[in-house]
Amino acid sequence: MNIQKLIETAKMLVANNKGLLAMDESNPTCNKRFAKLGIPQTEEARRAYRELIITTPGLGEYISGAILYDETIHQQTPDGTPFVQVIINAGIIPGIKVDIGAKDMAGHPGEKITEGLDGLRDRLKEYFQMGARFAKWRAVITIADGIPSRGCIEANAQALARYAALCQEAGLVSIVEPEVLMDGVHSLSRCGEVTEEVLRTVFKQLYRQRVMLEGMILKPNMVLPGLTCSQQESVDEVADATVNCLLRAVPAAVPGIAFLSGGQSGELASARLNAMNFRFKSRSPWALAFSFARAIQQPALEIWQGKEANVSTAQQALLHRAKCNWAARRGEG
Ligand code: 13P
Repeated sequence: MNIQKLIETAKMLVANNKGLLAMDESNPTCNKRFAKLGIPQTEEARRAYRELIITTPGLGEYISGAILYDETIHQQTPDGTPFVQVIINAGIIPGIKVDIGAKDMAGHPGEKITEGLDGLRDRLKEYFQMGARFAKWRAVITIADGIPSRGCIEANAQALARYAALCQEAGLVSIVEPEVLMDGVHSLSRCGEVTEEVLRTVFKQLYRQRVMLEGMILKPNMVLPGLTCSQQESVDEVADATVNCLLRAVPAAVPGIAFLSGGQSGELASARLNAMNFRFKSRSPWALAFSFARAIQQPALEIWQGKEANVSTAQQALLHRAKCNWAARRGEG
C-alpha cells in the first residue's frame, strides 16, 4: 500500500467543492428505475445510460469521482473506449461498488447484513488493475419498533471495517457507507440517536481493524425525520442535527464526509447540504461533500427515457444537478 497515494486520492475526492456521483445501481435496482419509465431493462440500455452520464460535457468540473457497478466497469463506448478511460479523460476518478448487497440477517427479522467479504481481496486487486482508485461498501440500518438491534449494528460495522482494511491494503480509498434509512414514521431525534450509535460503532471497528482514517471517506445519511413522520423539520434544523451528530461521532482525521441522498428530492438534498456548509463553515473539521445517485441522476433519467434524441437535454439536466451540489458545498447562503 502506498500510504501517501491513498491520502492524496482521498483528499482529491473532496477537493475544489466537487463531490461523488454514485452510478453504481445494481442491475436489479437499475432495471427497477428503468421499468418505472418504460425503458427496456437490457444490458445495452444500461450501457447507453451510463455512457450518457460519463460523456456529459463538463461533468469533471463538479464531479471528482464516479462509483461504478461491476457490469459498468467492464463496458465501453461504441468506438471501443473503456468507460474507465472515458472517466479518467474527463478528470474524474473511477471507483467501484464492491459489496454484493444487503441480505436478510439470520435471527434478526426486518434487518439486513451486507455481504461480499469472501474473495474480496482478489476482486480489489482486479479492480485496481482496471483503474479504480476507490471503492464503496453500503450497510443498511432500518429504524422501526425495536430495531435496529446491537447485533445488526455491530455485524455491519465489523464488515465495513474489514472491507475498508482490505481496500487500503489494495491501494484503494474506501468509501464507508453506513446508511440509516429514511423510511418510517420515526422522528428526527430518533434518527439522530441511531445515526450517532451506528457511527460510534463503525469508528470503533475501523480502529480495531487498523484502518487509516486519512485514507477513507465517510458516506453517511443526513439526520432526517422519517419519510412518513408527521413533523418535518426545516432545512436549517436538519443541517444542525446532522452536523452536530457527526461532530460527536466522527474523528477529525477523516478528510471528508460525502452524504448519500437516500430518496430526498434533488432540490432538498442540495438545500440541506448548502445549509450545513453555510452554518458550519468555520467549525467543520472535514469537507462536507456529496455522493448522490438519485439526487443527481433522477431528472436526467426521466428526460432520457431510453431515447437517443434526448441524450443532450438529459446531460444538461445531469450537469445542472451536479453544479447545484458543487455550489451547495460553497455554502454561500
Ligand atoms: P442515493 O444518493 O440515491 O441514496 O444513492 C447513494 C448510494 O450510493 C447508495 O449506496
